[in-house]
Amino acid sequence: MAHITAPAPLPVLGFPAKLMPIGGSWIPSSSGQTITVINPATEQPIADVPAGTVTDGLAGLDAACAAQDAWAATPARDRADILARTYQGIIDRRDEFAALIVAEMGKPWIEAQAEVDYGAGFFRWFAESANRLHLDGQFGLEPGGNYRIAVSKRPVGPSLLITPWNFPLAMGARKIAPALAAGCTTILKPAELTPLTSMLLARVLEEAGVPAGVVNIVTTNNSREVVAAIMNDSRVRKISFTGSTQVGRALLAQAAENVMNTSMELGGNAPLIVFDDADLDQAVDGAIVAKLRNGGQSCVGANRIYLQSGIATEFTRRFTERMSATRTGNGVEPDVELGPLVDDKQVTAVSALVQDALAKGATCLTGGTTPEGTGYFYPATVLTNIPANANIRTEEIFGPVAAIYTFDTEDQAIQEANNTPYGLASYVFSQDLGRALRVADAIDAGMTGINRGVVSNPAAPFGGTKASGLGREGGTEGLEAYQETKYTGIQL
Ligand code: SIN
Repeated sequence: MAHITAPAPLPVLGFPAKLMPIGGSWIPSSSGQTITVINPATEQPIADVPAGTVTDGLAGLDAACAAQDAWAATPARDRADILARTYQGIIDRRDEFAALIVAEMGKPWIEAQAEVDYGAGFFRWFAESANRLHLDGQFGLEPGGNYRIAVSKRPVGPSLLITPWNFPLAMGARKIAPALAAGCTTILKPAELTPLTSMLLARVLEEAGVPAGVVNIVTTNNSREVVAAIMNDSRVRKISFTGSTQVGRALLAQAAENVMNTSMELGGNAPLIVFDDADLDQAVDGAIVAKLRNGGQSCVGANRIYLQSGIATEFTRRFTERMSATRTGNGVEPDVELGPLVDDKQVTAVSALVQDALAKGATCLTGGTTPEGTGYFYPATVLTNIPANANIRTEEIFGPVAAIYTFDTEDQAIQEANNTPYGLASYVFSQDLGRALRVADAIDAGMTGINRGVVSNPAAPFGGTKASGLGREGGTEGLEAYQETKYTGIQL
């Protein structure tokens, strides 16, 4: 399939090149080394960032610890004002952020702009939450009537935040905003593939008035050692990680050593179920967005599409027509709907899943072949007749490949949906609201979209069950994740 790879102008860097913000200054890596960030559509370098070392990671932690008490003591309303200014600062620079996101991650322009609004939304939501912080406590007589119980919230403390490459702004925003609202200082380690957007965010946070040391960013291509060194230090009180279940397990083991507060947003294997009584236009639209958002590189992406037998043929026809017509290319081009995958490893992994399924007898209705030429592209692909032993049935695809299965009864759909160690997102399409709610309740997943293919919202708790993680981000739960509960017994 042809795709557009016109050379794009380099995005403007709204922050100092080759430096990272630690303790209120922008500094180079202590090793002097840098990492080159590559545009996945053109395979051309965009910019260099510091290759942070263990020394730099610990400098970030020192800065966060030094700033912790003053930040916790800053009135919640002042913290809220800073977050509100950050929201506005991001919105004012929407195009600048979107250009960086497209350049370093590859998603189409329209999706990059949507991510900017989504990411900024966390600062607005948690600014509003910070303003209500003092209302969170309880005060009253204990049941025996002998003394008073006072319960209040306090910040957990310096927090290590580790973000993935798929939403370069939103994933950092979803962690930094609640941490700051709660009164925690932070060390952010963005993904090596997409660190530039975080740097611009740091600049906006500074302009909004975040004091030195409250947000520190360590870019590195030696994540394992840098993160281990920070986590070995008992001063860090929280780790929030978004990424694979495999890495999450290793981090949980490390966190156990210092009994650290953890939030883990890990892998998914989302089922999308379409019943015979669904509105098919709505279901096809929902499935397209649940599958193609971010080129399928999302842990809430529809990994398994289950169609009830009565609509399976017609749904598949309409859905495949839409997938085949998807405009693929460099996300800076107008009208592009599917950008490149983030790197060549991702293309190899997605292609391997498709080839495995085809070799075992699956049918490919569209796509399925890695295109020649520049850029890490993979076409929108639809597979049916997928045999029981195909790897794609159980693995997270993380690409624009739709795997279609059929079912007959509601019970069968629920059983299939739950037949996975993961439990992050799920989607149900039916015009019978009773059925839709019944099925949503029966699916063991943290989130269910009914008649819609996107559930993400700063005001809603995002997170999973089973191997998909621990804790929630966003919503009221997102703030609680950065708070400790303090109980005081008062004898009058
Ligand atoms: C993710 O894929 O990790 C996050 C997706 C989202 O926030 O919508």
